[in-house]
Order: sequence, then C-alpha cells, then structure tokens
Amino acid sequence: MKADRNQMETKIVRLSEGNNDDKALFEAGEILKKGGLVAFPTETVYGLGGDALNPDSSKKIYAAKGRPSDNPLIVHLYRTEDLYRVAKEVPEKALRLAEAFWPGPLTMILPKSDLVPKETTGGLDTVAVRLPSHVGARKMIEYAGGFVAAPSANLSGKPSPTLAKYVIEDMQGRVDMILDDGEVGIGLESTIVDLTVDPPQVLRPGYITKEMLTEVLGRVENDATLFSVSGKTAPRAPGMKYRHYAPKGDLVIVRGESERVAAFVNEKLREARRAGEKTGVIAAQETSSLYDADVVKTIGKRRDEEVIAKRLYGILREFDDENVGKIFSESFGEESDEKGGLGQAIMNRLLKAAGHQVIEV
Ligand code: TXA
Ligand code: MG
Repeated sequence: MKADRNQMETKIVRLSEGNNDDKALFEAGEILKKGGLVAFPTETVYGLGGDALNPDSSKKIYAAKGRPSDNPLIVHLYRTEDLYRVAKEVPEKALRLAEAFWPGPLTMILPKSDLVPKETTGGLDTVAVRLPSHVGARKMIEYAGGFVAAPSANLSGKPSPTLAKYVIEDMQGRVDMILDDGEVGIGLESTIVDLTVDPPQVLRPGYITKEMLTEVLGRVENDATLFSVSGKTAPRAPGMKYRHYAPKGDLVIVRGESERVAAFVNEKLREARRAGEKTGVIAAQETSSLYDADVVKTIGKRRDEEVIAKRLYGILREFDDENVGKIFSESFGEESDEKGGLGQAIMNRLLKAAGHQVIEV
C-alpha cells in the first residue's frame, strides 16, 4: 500500500451503550455526505462506509481496502421502502424476505436502478442490498442520506473485523472516522441471496440459513461452490473468488474421529517443528488438550456455534500476529444441506481460509 494513504487523520469515537450517541452518528453522516469514509459497526462485522450514490466514494473505498474494483459493494439502507430506489424491480420474494428478516443479517441481490452508480456495483447491473439491525448503523445511514456502500472494514485479504481494535489496525490513517462499538454480535458476514435467478441462490451462507430462506420462499439453492473442497469452480459472488479470510500461515482442515485427528495432527506438528516452523491448532474446547502445538486456540464448545462464529476471524488474526507458519484446524460446522444453523457459514469461511485444503483421516 502507498504510504500517502496512511497520512490522513482518523477520528476514533467510542459509541455509547445502546448506540444513542447521536452526536457521533450525526457527524459520521455528515462525513459520508461530503464523500468521506467512516468505518462503523454492524451486527455481523464492521463495515467501511461511503455514500453509495457517489462514484468517488466507492472508488475511495476500494483504495482504502486495497481491493480490486470489480468486487461489488453492498448498499446498506435504514428503511425497507428505499429498496424501490436502488432496485429496478422489487420482486414479491424480496418483500417477503424483507418482512421476515429485515432489519438483519441478510443481503439480497436485485437488478439495480439507475440511481446506483456502476462504481458501487463493480460494473454489474445488479445491486446487493441490506438493512442492518444495528441501531447505531441505521441512524448513521439515515443521517448520511439513506444509502451507504460498505464492504467489511478489513484490508483486502484479511479476515473481516469483529472488534474495533482490528478496524483500527487496518483502517487508521485510511478513513475519516472509526465508530468503535466493541465486539460485534455475530462475527460472520451477512447471508447473500441472489433473487435474480430462479430458484433463488445462496451466494454466501450466514446467520440467516438456507432453511430459513426456504421457509419463506419455498425453494432455495446453494451456489454449488460454497462447500467445495477443491475450490476449483468460480463462485458467483465476485468477492467470494478471492482468497479472503486467509491467515498468513498455511492452514489445513483435518476431518475425522477426534482421537485420530489429534494423532495425525500431532505427527504433522512434529514434522513442521523439525522444519523450523511455528505451529498452531484451532480446536474445540473438548479436544484442545490433545494437541501439542506452539499455539493452541480453543474456539469454543463444539456445539456452541454462535461462540465459534464470533471467535473464528479473531483467531485467524491472532495467528498472524503471532507469526504462526503452519496451522491445523479441526472441522467445525455442518456443510450438509439437511442441517441448518450457523454451521454452514462457519464451514464455508473455514474452507476459504484454508484455501479449501482438507485432509480426511
Ligand atoms: O455482513 C456484511 O454483509 C458486511 C457488513 C459490513 O454489512 N459486509 C460485507 O461486505 O461483508 P463485503 O464487501 O466484504 O462482501 C460483499 C460480498 C462480496 O463477496 C461481493 O462479491 C458480493 O457481496 N456482492 C456484492 N454485490 C454483488 C452482486 N451484485 N452480485 C453478486 N455478489 C455481490
Ligand atoms: Mg469482506
């Protein structure tokens, strides 16, 4: 990254309990209206906001993230009726989903209106839209004029930020303001559902599961690449093709019965150590004592998916900070179509972090 992008002054404001800190949110809105950038909390992960209707703001977002500009941004609203302004057509399915899940962690892909510049949609004729449930975020969007484009507030290639601390690490000197609301609620990005195809397709799994969407819409499919082990087919959400969420170290997922996984991983850890590598393991609380690595990260109880989801990105960042070169992870979540819950989202992100490297033992 160019050093000059790190020169700007970033105002950091801690939001008050309940996000009723109107003054800071109002100021953030003013900055956005003038074409500036504000990193802000949402219920999923922190976002890096700019005015979605201003092409220059979108260009600034790409520059601040170091992100390729063919990777479209999500337009954040504060009220459902604004769907009609950003989408050319609002199918009945979109209204049913909005009714069921907005405000909340669901992003819909729709044909875009002329109001939304192509700079915001990465050149596409479709637009991603979401109405977050985070109260402070919604107030800020309203003060900003109603349409805030925001990718996750991480530098490209790093995990999405789940703590303000990570936003500050990545974005200080690159944005005008950072709104600090501590730890986010969910920790994985919103579910993305494409309503421009029939049946609708989940392009990115999240807290709103395919099963929940199916209950409202009847039939929903997964993008076929979401849980691929080889990772060879290109996903349909442009951003999902980049090797996101990747730790600097080499990460491999090991699947199987827990004692066998531990025996296999410990053998590999010995080899890596002999080769002079610092080693790490991501394990469930139930099995973390079985591993003999330099750094063992306990992600949570195996069944406590909400905790696992919230911890995952932070753990990946910690490995980077600790310069761990070789990482093994137990398998988490449930990638099968039958099971719902956060498991699918966890597995999808873990697979991506591992560059789809999985060993069955
Ligand atoms: O939870 C979230 O969605 C967070 C918070 C900040 O709201 N935002 C977020 O944005 O995760 P980002 O930019 O990191 O991820 C957006 C994803 C990318 O994979 C992008 O390719 C996809 O959405 N996307 C955006 N517009 C699209 C479109 N028109 N068609 C297909 N995929 C699209
Ligand atoms: Mg992102």
